[in-house]
Amino acid sequence: MAERSVVETRDLTKTYGDGAEVVALAGVNLAIRRGEFVAIVGPSGSGKSTLLNMLGALDRPTRGEVIIDGSPLTKVKDLDRFRSQMVGFVFQTHNLIPTLNARENVEVPMYEGTLSAGKRRERASGLLHMVGLGDRQEALPNQLSGGQRQRVAIARALANNPAIVLADEPTGNLDSKTTGEILELLNALNREQGTTLIVVTHNAQVARAARRVIALRDGQVLRDLPVTSAFESDLIDFKNSSLGQAILHGNGLPGDLAACAPALRQLLERM
Ligand SMILES: Nc1ncnc2c1ncn2[C@@H]1O[C@H](COP(=O)(O)OP(=O)(O)O)[C@@H](O)[C@H]1O
Ligand SMILES: [Mg+2]
Repeated sequence: MAERSVVETRDLTKTYGDGAEVVALAGVNLAIRRGEFVAIVGPSGSGKSTLLNMLGALDRPTRGEVIIDGSPLTKVKDLDRFRSQMVGFVFQTHNLIPTLNARENVEVPMYEGTLSAGKRRERASGLLHMVGLGDRQEALPNQLSGGQRQRVAIARALANNPAIVLADEPTGNLDSKTTGEILELLNALNREQGTTLIVVTHNAQVARAARRVIALRDGQVLRDLPVTSAFESDLIDFKNSSLGQAILHGNGLPGDLAACAPALRQLLERM
């Protein structure tokens, strides 16, 4: 039997404003299984953040439905509680509380739960060890690097052992080396803990780390493919572009590009 989806959307639609309406999402249908690592890509304004906000119950759809772990969000009585138990968020800016140290920041989402102070502390400490910050637990956010702060934010997202982790451009403010480290961490969480990860990104490095890539355009799902097919599909689009054709046929290329054209041609010829 097919495993039940942990995240499902049906005809998910969001419009903003009245009168001159902006259609941010236009009838999105998705099903994401437990343990998947999904990248959501697309140009700026294509509806990525809107989709993530709907999945995390940060905002309400205009039409359609979000179903998390079998519960339609419209039927959930206590959305705050639902959010804190079921969903972990990681944003581009880490949103850590500047006056709390790393461990205290990770403890914040646990205040809604039933753990004793001692257990909260223990769990936060364990999570910080897991993200590689076991020795920086007492540090304030401004004593940590950007990558370290994002690790704290990831540990905080995991505080209540949520069914899904939603991340909106989690590496948007990081250099490519630090991005690589954060990706390794996300990958390990997904592989070793089975965390369901949904990551919005316009960074190809991030999208490649996922196993499935959902491309949005104008609020609709343009493509929904396993990562290898998604990149093949990008390459086919490139092959069909005027630059791709110029490379394939070796005409009209400026010097630098002409020099690497043979390698590129080989790649494109395989598509
Ligand atoms: N709060 C809002 N009010 C009005 N329009 C919005 C709001 N949030 C997003 N939009 C519009 O909805 C569309 C999708 O935005 P968004 O989901 O932020 O896209 P992305 O994250 O892919 O850049 C854009 O046209 C954007 O301008
Ligand atoms: Mg966005």
